[in-house]
Amino acid sequence: MSIDTNVPELIRKLPKAELHLHIEGTLEPEMVFELAQRNQVQLPFASTCELREQYDFKDLQSFLDLYYQATAVLQTEQDFFDLTWAYLERCVADKVVHTEIFFDPQTHTARAVPFAVVVDGIRRALLQGERELGITSKLIMCFLRHLPADAALATWEEAQPHLDGIHGVGLDSSERDYPPRLFQDVFTRARSAGLKAVAHAGEEGPAAYIREAVDLLQVSRIDHGVRVTEDPALMDELRDRQIPLTVCPLSNTRLCVYARMSEHPLIRLLDHGLVVTVNSDDPAYFGGYVNDNYLAVAESLRPSRAQLMQLARNSIVASFMDSDQKKHWLREIDGLT
Ligand code: HPA
Ligand code: ZN
Repeated sequence: MSIDTNVPELIRKLPKAELHLHIEGTLEPEMVFELAQRNQVQLPFASTCELREQYDFKDLQSFLDLYYQATAVLQTEQDFFDLTWAYLERCVADKVVHTEIFFDPQTHTARAVPFAVVVDGIRRALLQGERELGITSKLIMCFLRHLPADAALATWEEAQPHLDGIHGVGLDSSERDYPPRLFQDVFTRARSAGLKAVAHAGEEGPAAYIREAVDLLQVSRIDHGVRVTEDPALMDELRDRQIPLTVCPLSNTRLCVYARMSEHPLIRLLDHGLVVTVNSDDPAYFGGYVNDNYLAVAESLRPSRAQLMQLARNSIVASFMDSDQKKHWLREIDGLT
């Protein structure tokens, strides 16, 4: 049975915050080829079709291998601006009114693209997005956990001249065998400097990594966190402390964390009282932007209208917006009942 026709309309109308979005993961195949031509970069794929054919991932690592390869086309400040601007235009279409964007500086500085080129391009688009599209935003710098903790510390030092444009730090890339505890030092420094902390944990890694992210990195939110279902006591704790999870349903099915969407625990976690939110992670690779994620959840897990509204409400509450801004959007959501 197909879903009620009112559901897609509700999803379209709900104001949402996106809290788990890698800007490099918004690089659509068409832009890969456009930028490759602009920057004279040789690609190992002959066409956008051939590139799309590779989007058949078996796990997180098989995705990351391709994702890092594609970033080779990002070279100039204008490239980072164009990438971010294209994403902000998608936000307008999905009524994403606020977005908190991850970027991976080490992926770019390793290719001799200066840190400033990356941040300045992204920031210019975000500021223009606020002025011209009315979309507010925050920028979160992620450390690559497959690289040594010393490399994260060096990146933290490199970020110092740019901290006025960076709201928080995160932790991403290959999760298995790279526990959060390895990055305690750099997270302590970042929090001491007044930045927020978040971390990917419990995507492919065990629930114990969520525990470490909470206790040692003292994160404000957990990115993914779906494997919390394996530790009922931790599940209760995240609920009691209202530590949000930024869940990415299409990402989880594309990377085979769950074989099918009907197995996804999103609504079970919501029913348990956790602050779960819906996000797109790497939308160019996983089959859709935020509203596509809401729709996929609606079709497979059949949440009620009230539950869909709660997911949007959670995204506002879990964001780093100020309280007046949160109140404004929560009022708008309540007006849709
Ligand atoms: N997990 C870890 N690292 C990532 C992801 C993800 O889903 N997307 C981009 N980098
Ligand atoms: Zn992610």
